[in-house]
Amino acid sequence: MQNQNKKNYGIALFLILIGFTFNSHGDEFDNEQPTVLITGSNRNIGLEFVKEFSKRNWNVIATTRRPDDAKELNKFAAKNNNVNIELLDITNNQDISNLASKYQNQTIDILLNNAGLTPRYLSAFRRLSAVEEDIARESFEINALGTMKVIQAFMSNVEQSDNGKIIALSSKASSFGERLKVPMMYSYAMSKAALNSMIYSLSFETKKKNIIVISLSPGMVNTTPGTSLMGAIEIDESVTKMMVVIENLTMEQNGLFLDYEDGRTIDW
Ligand SMILES: NC(=O)c1ccc[n+]([C@@H]2O[C@H](COP(=O)([O-])OP(=O)(O)OC[C@H]3O[C@@H](n4cnc5c(N)ncnc54)[C@H](OP(=O)(O)O)[C@@H]3O)[C@@H](O)[C@H]2O)c1
Repeated sequence: MQNQNKKNYGIALFLILIGFTFNSHGDEFDNEQPTVLITGSNRNIGLEFVKEFSKRNWNVIATTRRPDDAKELNKFAAKNNNVNIELLDITNNQDISNLASKYQNQTIDILLNNAGLTPRYLSAFRRLSAVEEDIARESFEINALGTMKVIQAFMSNVEQSDNGKIIALSSKASSFGERLKVPMMYSYAMSKAALNSMIYSLSFETKKKNIIVISLSPGMVNTTPGTSLMGAIEIDESVTKMMVVIENLTMEQNGLFLDYEDGRTIDW
């Protein structure tokens, strides 16, 4: 038994020395490369982020609440061994703690909080009288609280990075300065404003740890199949531009709400 333990210890040490992390899927990460964790990565903006980071040789922890249904993500991960698909419903405390335990020794350079509950366009312009309490609560649970819990769970992983960044995808619908001046998206706007408030508070903590934390608007993006909103941009344009903003972040931008297009500051 003692010999077996010694042997296991020896193998683990060897793996650490050669710079690879093996997880229980048997996938391997090259720890010479940076690592990103992306929430809601099975479709649209999240999925495109997975592809872009993977292409740039990042290790990608691609999380989704339904790994088995994530066909396109699975297909992509099968061809790219720097992508690990993991189960994560950001409202589920057990999922969060399981994943945090699994990756407890993994440095995370970018924690990309993409998962969100976004209203589809027909429901976006409902009046206050039509706001459904269940949807309002769910929006808050996912967009604000869920994101907060993910950040709580993975903060220590980001602290291990020399260049840690925490990004939260927010929306101009929540900006008092830049939103359309019409009644709209009550539940969504309220929940993203709460998210922004959390990010702003957090920025005072993270500054001391040399971690940059921001809210980021992806712009108005065509993500609803079969629709093409006037003025909306395509997913790849939004993601490519956000990648530039994220890559060029400086500590001066810590605690700001930035635009995908050129990284300009959006008024809260
Ligand atoms: N599209 C836009 O024009 C726009 C504009 C401003 C801001 N945003 C924000 O940008 C982000 C991505 O937008 P998108 O258009 O790609 O959104 P989307 O198409 O609605 O996709 C949302 C993603 O979040 C996931 N998700 C939802 N609830 C979750 C939960 N409880 N746990 C884990 N994952 C969850 C979804 O998973 P399932 O597939 O399982 O539902 C999906 O992967 C969102 O935060 C959105 O609010 C988008």
